[in-house]
Amino acid sequence: MSLLQKVGVSAENLEPQETGKYIGKPISRVDGRAKVTGNAKYAAEFNVGTGILHGFVISSPIAKGKITAVNIRQALSQKGVLTVFTHLNVPGLAWFDRSYRDQDAPPGGSPFRPLQSDEILFSQQPIALVVAETFELARYAATLVHFEYEVKEELSVGLEQNLDKAKKPEKHRFPVPKPRGDAEKALKESAFTVEEDYYHGYEHHNPMEMFASTVIYGDDDRLTIYDKTQGVLNSQSYIKSVFGLSDDKARVISPFMGGGFGSGLRPQYQLYMAVLASLELKRSVKVVLTRQQMFSFGHRPATLQKIALGASADGKLQAIINKCVSETSTFEEYTENIVNWSGQMYQCDNVLLDHQLVPLDLYTPLDMRAPGGVTGMYALEIAIDELAVKAGIDPLEFRLMNYAEKDQNLDKPFSSKELRECYRQGAERFGWSKRNPQAGATVEGNNLVGWGVATGCWEANQMPSRAKAMLSADGKLTVGCATADIGTGTYTVMTQIAAEVLGVAMEDVLFKLGDSVLPMSPLQGGSWTMATVGSAVKLVCDDMKTKLFKLAKQLENSPFSNIKEEDVIFSDSRIQLKADTQKYLTFSEVLQKSEVNYLETDTTSLPNMLEQNKYSRFTHSAVFVEVKVDKDLGTVHVTRVVDAVAAGRIINTKTARSQILGGVVWGISMALHEDTVMDNNFGRFMNHNLAEYHVPVNADIKDIDVIFVEEHDDIVNPLGVKGLGEIGIVGVAAAVSNAIYHATGKRLRNLPMQLDQLL
Ligand code: MOS
Repeated sequence: MSLLQKVGVSAENLEPQETGKYIGKPISRVDGRAKVTGNAKYAAEFNVGTGILHGFVISSPIAKGKITAVNIRQALSQKGVLTVFTHLNVPGLAWFDRSYRDQDAPPGGSPFRPLQSDEILFSQQPIALVVAETFELARYAATLVHFEYEVKEELSVGLEQNLDKAKKPEKHRFPVPKPRGDAEKALKESAFTVEEDYYHGYEHHNPMEMFASTVIYGDDDRLTIYDKTQGVLNSQSYIKSVFGLSDDKARVISPFMGGGFGSGLRPQYQLYMAVLASLELKRSVKVVLTRQQMFSFGHRPATLQKIALGASADGKLQAIINKCVSETSTFEEYTENIVNWSGQMYQCDNVLLDHQLVPLDLYTPLDMRAPGGVTGMYALEIAIDELAVKAGIDPLEFRLMNYAEKDQNLDKPFSSKELRECYRQGAERFGWSKRNPQAGATVEGNNLVGWGVATGCWEANQMPSRAKAMLSADGKLTVGCATADIGTGTYTVMTQIAAEVLGVAMEDVLFKLGDSVLPMSPLQGGSWTMATVGSAVKLVCDDMKTKLFKLAKQLENSPFSNIKEEDVIFSDSRIQLKADTQKYLTFSEVLQKSEVNYLETDTTSLPNMLEQNKYSRFTHSAVFVEVKVDKDLGTVHVTRVVDAVAAGRIINTKTARSQILGGVVWGISMALHEDTVMDNNFGRFMNHNLAEYHVPVNADIKDIDVIFVEEHDDIVNPLGVKGLGEIGIVGVAAAVSNAIYHATGKRLRNLPMQLDQLL
């Protein structure tokens, strides 16, 4: 019997996860209709009707140097052009270095400030804003602005060409664990070893919606700002500190976002520029970036990982070394968690990890869906596959033989980890047991067929958040929190939780988000919104129940006068006696009889860090991929994917599945398509458009099967949920690479994997 057959409890033995009326159900998006009918408005679609001005950003054609002269006369002579902002005429600002930072662990160093100096630090740096009556006029006038430059020819832009500049970051956002054991020695003594380089090139987020800010200039210099952002409070605090404004002077609203993927974690420069123009001109201003400019404010960093693994003769991991070099800008230190996964995924007593940065003449990299996790697991999971092949062990079995029962990086147990079950259920659904271990041995017509597997992992964090709730006498519930819905389904899942907890119909719940007047929430990122805002919504609705029950008890002839809250249930918009559900009061009755128009409550949800810190908290997955490689042309098609995910309780099986589908599609894209190509002579991304930056089309995506493995976790947060926004992409590219190896016998260690590497 193989280990694979021996491991794990079967799903049938587990208690089925508790589902409710709404929780755990495949509920369609509450905002779906608004989105498909065009009623959902995005940042650039808000308009005051007549009179709004349009700003067009001018981007630097050079990557490094100084602006020596600016001539705006010809642009200004156009009727309808109001002004051109450059570093020569922007007013002094209230900011100082620290206040200009965004929240939530920004990179170290000093952020780039648009229009504050004559210095050019990267290609496509915004160097002017032309403001005119129409967008077309602003764009045309931008062509009439004349700049002269002193160009610095010496550029550092290629990662591999600048490895000699690698140095440790001053402060790592994810400190690299200290070495454990003696990895170098253990490697030398290993029976099987792998020592290879794994490269991952530049990639850009490319959401459909362009970055945009619409600033409505109101009475008393009050600004209402419609911004494309993953956090309205982040944009607000940024604007407040940069321009020295108080809360009530800058309200930021963002009800919908046409894709973020991390690009909206930092306030982007169009926000600064639109607010600047609005305050200076005392007019409403809109600034929308072009698709080309979407390549100018951050990207997934180019990364080189040197991995060495060693295993004993019986296939036990003895040594893991991952020395990684990634890029940052010359002005900030961008770090992500790339190597730590190598010390955590498998049981191994000898581990050496290192992460260094190379400063390049590019804009600072930026978090992009599963930042670091995608990169680190891509390399590690190919290396593990290579080692399994060398040891002559099935790659899935090899992973099970080296399964980590605890997190050795932190020396802590996992709060939950049903990864074994992911491997087992994924393998079963995929048909892994029928795999011919011989690479290059499965032929189907003109195609070589390959099967590969890889592991995925991502953080399961909960952050502090607030939420407020209002129940009105007509039984309608409004819940609000300043979080975002970047397409993940936040509106829907929060509505479900509120309806479930208070016991009302989903139709009676309105969930509000994306407005800086709403209660505090962190950015939407890090896959933590379900855990964070979900817990806040649960808490505020629990609090509402208590308030409502108190009111009900006080009523004259109340059926609950001698009853405790534990002895009633909240269901169908009623408080009813557990012992006799026919004894009830409707919520409306309680409010009306109390002569109260509405009940309001506002609570703060804090993670129980004392308890959570005792555990390592992660989401896991196992990805199985089938590829078909054309024998003559080297073209690769991913024909089948099974992704088995253990992510705690699943609140909405439909939106959850969509998150994983999207992640897998992007993983395939990362594996085979996406590549921002740098011209090392000009320091410029050459394919900065969607015609030449390749993403998959429908024809590239075939069968994707998502499995949610049962997982119970009382530690991670009160709902027992783990995030799903990022786990879906992690591991996919490695599984594709491993499948290509199995199909062809060729090991590809560079992303993207394209046919030239296979011919
Ligand atoms: Mo995500 S890269 O935290 O938006």
